[in-house]
Formats: sequence, C-alpha cells, structure tokens
Amino acid sequence: MLFIISIFLITFGKQSPDPNDAFLNQSIAVMLGGQQKHYYDNNVVVHSSTTNQKNHYSSISPDYFDDDETTDFVEQLQSYDYNQDINLNDLRVSRIHSDINKIEIMPLIIPEGNMSNYAVKKYLGEGTFAFVQSGIRLSDGLLVVLKQIKSKYLWWARMEAHIIDILNEEKKASIVKLIDMYMNNTSPVLVFEELQNSKTLDYRIYSFYHDLILEEIKRFYLQLFYGLSITHSKGIMHLDIKPQNIIVSNDDIQIIDWGVSDFYYPLKEYRTRVGTRHYRAPEQLLHYKHYDYAVDVWALGSILASTIFKKYPFFKGRNNDDQLLQVVKVLGSQDLFQFCEKYDIKLNEKLKKTLQGYERQALENYIDENNRELVSPAVIDLLNKIFVYDHRIRISAEEVLQHEFFRE
Ligand SMILES: Nc1ncnc2c1ncn2[C@@H]1O[C@H](COP(=O)(O)OP(=O)(O)OP(=O)(O)O)[C@@H](O)[C@H]1O
Ligand SMILES: *[C@@H]1O[C@H](CO)[C@@H](O)[C@H](O)[C@H]1NC(C)=O
Ligand SMILES: *[C@@H]1O[C@H](CO)[C@@H](O)[C@H](O)[C@H]1NC(C)=O
Ligand SMILES: *[C@@H]1O[C@H](CO)[C@@H](O)[C@H](O)[C@H]1NC(C)=O
Ligand SMILES: [Mg+2]
Repeated sequence: MLFIISIFLITFGKQSPDPNDAFLNQSIAVMLGGQQKHYYDNNVVVHSSTTNQKNHYSSISPDYFDDDETTDFVEQLQSYDYNQDINLNDLRVSRIHSDINKIEIMPLIIPEGNMSNYAVKKYLGEGTFAFVQSGIRLSDGLLVVLKQIKSKYLWWARMEAHIIDILNEEKKASIVKLIDMYMNNTSPVLVFEELQNSKTLDYRIYSFYHDLILEEIKRFYLQLFYGLSITHSKGIMHLDIKPQNIIVSNDDIQIIDWGVSDFYYPLKEYRTRVGTRHYRAPEQLLHYKHYDYAVDVWALGSILASTIFKKYPFFKGRNNDDQLLQVVKVLGSQDLFQFCEKYDIKLNEKLKKTLQGYERQALENYIDENNRELVSPAVIDLLNKIFVYDHRIRISAEEVLQHEFFRE
C-alpha cells in the first residue's frame, strides 16, 4: 500500500483536486482487487478480408514517406491475390522464407482495454504517427512505455501490435516487448515494457558521443542480426531499421518501432519510399517493388558501417536519386547496371548518365586515424557481403550470424 501511495504522490502531487484523481482511484481499486486485464483475454483476429481496410492502409498519407522534395510522386501498387499459385523460383521472389505467409494476415483488433491500469509519468516525445509517454503499471510498479498512436492510424497500430505479438513468441530476440494495449478514447495505445536506462543507438554512435567499444559493437550487432533473422523467419520485414529505432542499455539492445512493418508475400508489391532514406536499400531506391527481407539487412549493414567507420550516416544522400548516387560511388556503376538488367529495372536516361563511370571502391579506403581500432578484415568482409546490389545474392541475417566477425 505504501508503494501505491508513493506512486500516487510522485505522479500527481499531494492535494491537487486533479480530475486524474478519479482515474487513480479506479486504478488503485483495480490493483487492490488484484485484477489484471491482458489483451490476450479478448484479443480477436479478424478473418474477413474487407478490401476497405486494405485500401485504407495503402492510401493513408501516401506521400508521407516521400522525403524526396524534388518530386510529388505517389506510388501505385498493384492489388495482390492471396490465393494465387506462385512459382517460387521466379526471380522476383525472395531467396529465403518466400512461402511463410500462406493466407492474408489481418491486423489485431485493439481491445477497449482499461487504461486505468497505468499512470503516466512523463512525456517522451512525438513522431508523425504517435506520441510516447513513460508510465507505470499500477498493479506491480512495472515501468512501461505508452505509445499512443493517432486515431487516423489505427489500422497501422493494429498491424504493429500483431507483428510484435508474433515476434514476442521468441523471448530472446532483442525485440521490444509488447505487454498490453488499450484504447484511449479513439486513439490506440500500445504498452511496452520499458528498457531502462536506454538511449537510441544514434545517441551512442553519432559524432562525439561514440562510446561503444569493439566488444560491445560485436555483441550488440550479433543480437540485432539475430533479431532480424527471427523476424524474417516469421515472414516479417521491419522496413524502418535506423539508429533511432534501436534502443540500447548497458547490457541489452532492442529493435523498436514496428509501425511500418509488413508481412512478406511472394510477388506482392511494396511501397519503395517506406522507411528513412539513408538506410534504404538500392532496390528500393530504384523503385523495385518486389523487394524482400534483404532491405532490412542492407539498413542494418549501413548502420554497422557507420558504427565501425564513424561516418554518420554511411550513405548520405540529399534525396532519393542522390542517395542512390552515394551508394553507386562506393559499389560502382557496372554492377548496378547489371543488376538493373537482371531484374528488368528501368532507369531513365538522365539518371543513368549521373550514375555512370564509378568503380567499386575498397571499403579499406574509409579507414582513418579515428576508426582504425574498430576496423578488421573480418568486418570488411562482412560489409562486402551486405553491400551487394543484388538482394538475392546479399547475405541474409541468418547467414550473418555465422560470420567470422562475431567469432574472432
Ligand atoms: N520499450 C522502450 N523502452 C524505452 N524507451 C522506449 C521504448 N519504446 C520506445 N521508446 C522511446 O520512445 C521513442 C519513440 O518510440 P517509437 O520509435 O516506437 O515511436 P515513434 O518513432 O514516435 O513513432 P513514429 O515514428 O511511428 O511516429 C523511441 O525513440 C525511444 O526513445
Ligand atoms: C478518491 O478516493 C478517496 C478516498 O477513497 C475519496 O475521498 C475521493 O473523493 C476520491 N476522489 C475521486 C475524484 O473520486
Ligand atoms: C476499468 O477498471 C475499473 C476498476 O476495475 C472499472 O471500475 C471500470 O469500469 C473499468 N473501465 C472500463 C472501461 O472497463
Ligand atoms: C490519454 O490521452 C491523453 C491525450 O489524448 C493523454 O494526455 C493521456 O496521458 C492518455 N492517458 C493514458 C493513460 O494513456
Ligand atoms: Mg521511431
């Protein structure tokens, strides 16, 4: 009881006639009653596939991800038939885990829930889709993060919830832990276990704050690639891997923000302007819509490269085409054109001219006084296997786990 009272005092101050009192009274009642609602009790998966919901999904702010200021291009995606027979040897199908999702997977329904199980501690920040607060679960004092998603993105929140729910079956996968969800009026709230004393990875690797030593880098990236290998083996792509969506504490690391993640289906078209430009894979930059899990490996590889070489971000383009140019300046023109030919990707003449004439560079060229202690032949070999245009030849997350960089 003392504990509860202290939470009460810390959170809301002593004698305020705060409207929150009613809510806190309720919470305490719940707690004393020992009740604890979990969304598992009444979570329902809708099976009816209403095209309505699908269209809603692809039409929400279609240009949000288009951070390319030079164009107002909106991407049209072909509708996908979930019952078609597919030749898995088709060049456009993922080399791995191509056939995991057999039926159309629908997002979870967020239960009404009961938000009075939680008290809000502090406002953490706001993105395009959501604002995030830290809080406390009143029944046992567990520290939580409450991600409240704007009501117009309800469909996305349901998708995020479903995906994390599937991933959380694997307890050791370095993926943020979703423990509950509820509706706060019309806004869905996802409740995560807080990773205490954590910072986002950008904070740990960018510029002067670079404080990770090689042992930590190996340990953390092994965990991250393991997380990705589990994700991919369950037929899921994260699609927004970036330092801001990875949180690190002293001994733990987690992939967060599954807000744009999706299930992989062979021959389905995916939006290529998803995620964040600096971490986008070449196939996305080329607007190839049949991309697959390999985009996440590229993104994490780019972050590994920036960590090792202390260059932030490793590929720094000003817009979509410039981003592609930055990649070509390292990987060379020849292989890019071959890649385009193999997958029948069309390049307009102007862009083609811009991208011409670059040789593949040795990554060793990026070694300098600042990063020498972090670079080894093994990590260069690993990066060379990630920085491959052809996503079907690019090393998979599961294969990365076996790489000698993590053993030396
Ligand atoms: N489990 C957690 N433990 C600690 N901090 C967290 C946790 N989950 C999220 N955070 C913090 O909250 C921030 C925002 O979370 P998240 O990336 O999921 O939402 P968002 O970026 O605001 O969403 P969007 O970009 O889709 O609008 C993170 O950068 C991180 O600092
Ligand atoms: C909260 O509970 C206290 C004690 O049970 C009661 O005096 C107070 O009126 C309640 N506050 C509200 C807003 O319901
Ligand atoms: C939340 O829980 C309290 C206490 O059990 C209960 O009185 C209240 O009706 C619940 N609210 C909802 C919306 O279920
Ligand atoms: C409910 O939403 C409001 C703003 O819309 C926010 O201030 C409040 O903290 C949220 N409460 C919980 C418990 O999520
Ligand atoms: Mg985020």
